[in-house]
Amino acid sequence: MVKSCVYLWGISLFEVKMTIDLSKSKAYYEEACRYAPGGSPDGKGWGPEQFYVAEAHGSQIQDIDGNRYIDYHAGAGPIILGHSDQEVNRAVLDTIHDTGVQFAQPHRLEVELTKKLQELIPGADKSALCNAGTDALQLAVRLARTHTGRSKVVKFEGAYHGWSDGLAISTNPDPDVAGTMSDLQAVPDTSGTLPSILQDTIVIPYNDLDIASERLEKEKHNIACVIVEPIIHGHGILPKDGFLQGLSELCRSCNIPFVLDEIITGFRHDLGGLQRKWNIDVDLAVYGKAMANGYVVSAITGKNNLMDHLTPGPAFLSGTYNGNPVSAAASLKTIEVLERPGFYDRLYAKGAFIREEINRIINELGIDAVAYGYGSVWALYFDKIIPSNYRDIIRFLRDGGKEKYTSYFRFMLNNGIFIPPGRVARNYIYAAHSDDDLQKTVDVTARFLREFQSSLR
Ligand SMILES: Cc1ncc(COP(=O)(O)O)c(C=O)c1O
Repeated sequence: MVKSCVYLWGISLFEVKMTIDLSKSKAYYEEACRYAPGGSPDGKGWGPEQFYVAEAHGSQIQDIDGNRYIDYHAGAGPIILGHSDQEVNRAVLDTIHDTGVQFAQPHRLEVELTKKLQELIPGADKSALCNAGTDALQLAVRLARTHTGRSKVVKFEGAYHGWSDGLAISTNPDPDVAGTMSDLQAVPDTSGTLPSILQDTIVIPYNDLDIASERLEKEKHNIACVIVEPIIHGHGILPKDGFLQGLSELCRSCNIPFVLDEIITGFRHDLGGLQRKWNIDVDLAVYGKAMANGYVVSAITGKNNLMDHLTPGPAFLSGTYNGNPVSAAASLKTIEVLERPGFYDRLYAKGAFIREEINRIINELGIDAVAYGYGSVWALYFDKIIPSNYRDIIRFLRDGGKEKYTSYFRFMLNNGIFIPPGRVARNYIYAAHSDDDLQKTVDVTARFLREFQSSLR
């Protein structure tokens, strides 16, 4: 293993270098830079160390240099059964063959899918289908504004709700400009954000009901909705006991629509989302990702009093590909598999296995780290204290967390395991992960922790 010592703000760290052969990927990346900004037509590239996928089946990804990896990126979350799942693919191929690909006209499968959502999700009196999480979330805001006649949106620092102008705010803000916990500033994630959008956004800290209560009471006559991720998986932030239920009650008492962003959690943690599993009363919720095992679909679900504003009501709903038969068929088949007895028990057991095994080694070695997460999602966090809001993440990064994580990421990749690059990434387990996959993941992690234990205390 190639490693060296680096220093960050006086803290001695280590650096693992990539040792796998990525020469074809590198050449491809250089070529791609001629055609797309940063060589990344989809905004997903992470630079010269990235690999190009040749194929993905089951739990395995192979890159164009022939390297194989056990995958925990899961296509950024949607893969819940496995890559290229045969049953879902068969349903898609049959639909393409027997029905067609795209009508932009009503058809049976989209109705069946919305019927299924109503059956499974407690707050889904009605649903509408879109393509991406970003679409569904924009609709949620539109519906809330239509319903209340108010303009402001309350969101939580560190939470991600897609890339639209109105919601790409304070996902990873620079703390120097993001204000203090009791007075957070709305910081745009992107250039091109209008000042009026920032004025209409209230950002508050996650897991703090007192601050939420104060802000909501003060501004309730201007607030169109509160929007929250039940788990901020992007930063590995779990809700404190009672936080989400308390927030829901607060919204109810202030007469503010409560929107749950279940784009990651929906269908991954429960068929009825966390709103069902954790008994959270919501007005609107959005689903996507695991709903169709990688095919392109999202949904907004909600109570009649809000949903009935949608077209043919005053709140415009459109989208050429919304509800297309291919996506609807993929989603119906995915849900059918998820409904089979014991599916979630098996998935949760896999997550628990990885977390427990890694924590056992961490404790043995006396390292400052913790494996945590929820259900089928796990992350290795190089600190003892699990983050409860975005400010904890900032502290973690300032203490060298990113560098440690990057070394772990490279070590894993060098040893045939793909966890997402980043800072505090979430790793997704899905049905196709075998016991051997999980054991190998634990073993490689153990080697990493042993090799670098002195730098991780
Ligand atoms: C919680 C959450 N909401 C919304 C989105 C946006 O979804 P999409 O990328 O499909 O637009 C994401 C994407 O990662 C997400 O994690």
